[in-house]
Amino acid sequence: MCGIVGAVAQRDVAEILVEGLRRLEYRGYDSAGVAVLDNNNLQRVRRLGKVAELAEALTREPVSGGTGIAHTRWATHGEPSERNAHPHMSAEHIAVVHNGIIENHVSLKTALEAKGHAFSSDTDTEVIAHLVVEELKNASSLLHAVQNTVKQLKGAYGTVIIDKNDPERMIVARSGSPLVVGLGIGENFVASDQLALLPVTRRFIYLEEGDVAEITRRSVDIFNTLGEKIVREIHESSANYDAADKGPYRHFMLKETFEQPESVTSTLEGRLGEHTVLEETFGNGAATLFHQVQHVQIVACGTSYHAGMVARYWLETYAGISCNVEIASEFRYRKSFVQPNSLLVSISQSGETADTLAALRLAKDLGYLGSLTICNVAGSSLVRESDLAFMTRAGAEIGVASTKAFTTQLVGFAMLTLAIGKHHGLTLDKQKELTAALKSLPRKLEETLELAKSIEGLAEDFADKHHALFLGRGDQYPIAMEGALKLKEISYIHAEAYAAGELKHGPLALIDAEMPIIVVAPNNDLLEKLKSNVEEVRARGGQLYVFADAASQFKSDDTMKVIQIPDVHPWLAPIVYTLPLQLLSYYVAIIKGTDVDQPRNLAKSVTVE
Ligand code: F6R
Repeated sequence: MCGIVGAVAQRDVAEILVEGLRRLEYRGYDSAGVAVLDNNNLQRVRRLGKVAELAEALTREPVSGGTGIAHTRWATHGEPSERNAHPHMSAEHIAVVHNGIIENHVSLKTALEAKGHAFSSDTDTEVIAHLVVEELKNASSLLHAVQNTVKQLKGAYGTVIIDKNDPERMIVARSGSPLVVGLGIGENFVASDQLALLPVTRRFIYLEEGDVAEITRRSVDIFNTLGEKIVREIHESSANYDAADKGPYRHFMLKETFEQPESVTSTLEGRLGEHTVLEETFGNGAATLFHQVQHVQIVACGTSYHAGMVARYWLETYAGISCNVEIASEFRYRKSFVQPNSLLVSISQSGETADTLAALRLAKDLGYLGSLTICNVAGSSLVRESDLAFMTRAGAEIGVASTKAFTTQLVGFAMLTLAIGKHHGLTLDKQKELTAALKSLPRKLEETLELAKSIEGLAEDFADKHHALFLGRGDQYPIAMEGALKLKEISYIHAEAYAAGELKHGPLALIDAEMPIIVVAPNNDLLEKLKSNVEEVRARGGQLYVFADAASQFKSDDTMKVIQIPDVHPWLAPIVYTLPLQLLSYYVAIIKGTDVDQPRNLAKSVTVE
């Protein structure tokens, strides 16, 4: 979602702030701005559009100074425009950047207007700036004014505040939106994601819910909700500095698609024994918990939800344990029945998705046996708040459309299937067979990526289409859903996925020569059923694109283009068949000329509801 960077240093910080914003741009990107303090001079530059527009404005109107804050915005309250871009100011001396949503901003605004504050934007954020000015009238310091301000806020915030009259510090506060403090030598930083700060430091403190921190060049003082000074652990990051570079690829999405053999290799590394999975991979006490567990409840959003849907098939088929999967935004607002000895599993690339986090927090009061998260970001809220964590090691994913994060989530679930299965009757022979299949997965992914050229050749057929239908059965149904999501989010073609058996219950009416139908058809137990569904489409003149292995025995003809996928163990076919669908969406988007890495209206990390 929106991105925050802040710095207090002796050197000029504008460059650091802008580079940080560039690295966060994938999170939200309709406008950007900076405010920098120099000798009691508060300079603010904001621009509608991408960080590049802001950077260009700064070459024309340079700002200098050692204390500064910066922000990329993804509009929630108020249209994307320069006046709504952050930082927001009050009384010409307070500047604020904010991620999240202040839910009570309307009542706060009314009260502030009654006190004579004039608002210059339509954002919820601006109330923070005016509240701080109000609180400064009675508070002994900027820190106290911010502590008193956040007590009045309802909703979610990660916010950074600077004051022209007190230029040596920034005050940061976190509740519901992540913030990480970066520790330098004689300089300190803050950001909504450590990725922004990797060019300047490797040492980080993750702020906890309710923390307020005062950051100067030489000190970082953190206070909890009670106002008590506390010490938080310092983490040394091994994240890759170059992760935010595209390398030879035209887009991050393509780079990340091609990185999948490597990211799957890292996710597996050191976690598989000769014949099965090492349970410590999931954290201390995992084996005891997996022994007791009788039911798994999965919660997630978007692509991560699709990973959960695949996992349901795997856990029930191979691990012999019942499983439910639910969209987190639904789960969190309904009364659910908790099965005895249930494990709550959340899945998230970012670890900060507001609905998924809320579902986990809700589950804590519902009597689950424990919680596990499958996540790609160390130190994220979901990782910190779950009992167990499986880190997916996909590396930073910058493209908004999730690719390698999804396939490594599936690898995480494959390992969970083995880990739980061995306590619930999965035979040693089966464990050996599945472990061997997992070990061969990176090679299968490499072979599949070799199909990129032929998939690019198909993309032309889709460029003038307005709709597309994806079909799959069993554990390939969620892969069809994921294919449809990828196509719609980056090429803006309306796409739907159906469990192929559902066709005749309605969607068959849509089939005509204008409707491309993409079918994922590995040779598995449901292949013959799927073939009947394919015939239903063919009989109605639909144009078919079938992804299948040699054993599935589909043949290309006038009505059907067949793309042959390498043979793979049926268990892991959902992972392998994801790749051609990612590539197809990518090449269609290229022909359509859309902004592949930053599709319209979307943001990478959805930290608001
Ligand atoms: C789509 C995509 C989104 C995310 C969803 C949840 O390509 O990336 O659907 O999967 O916003 O995000 P995380 O996984 O960070 O919880």
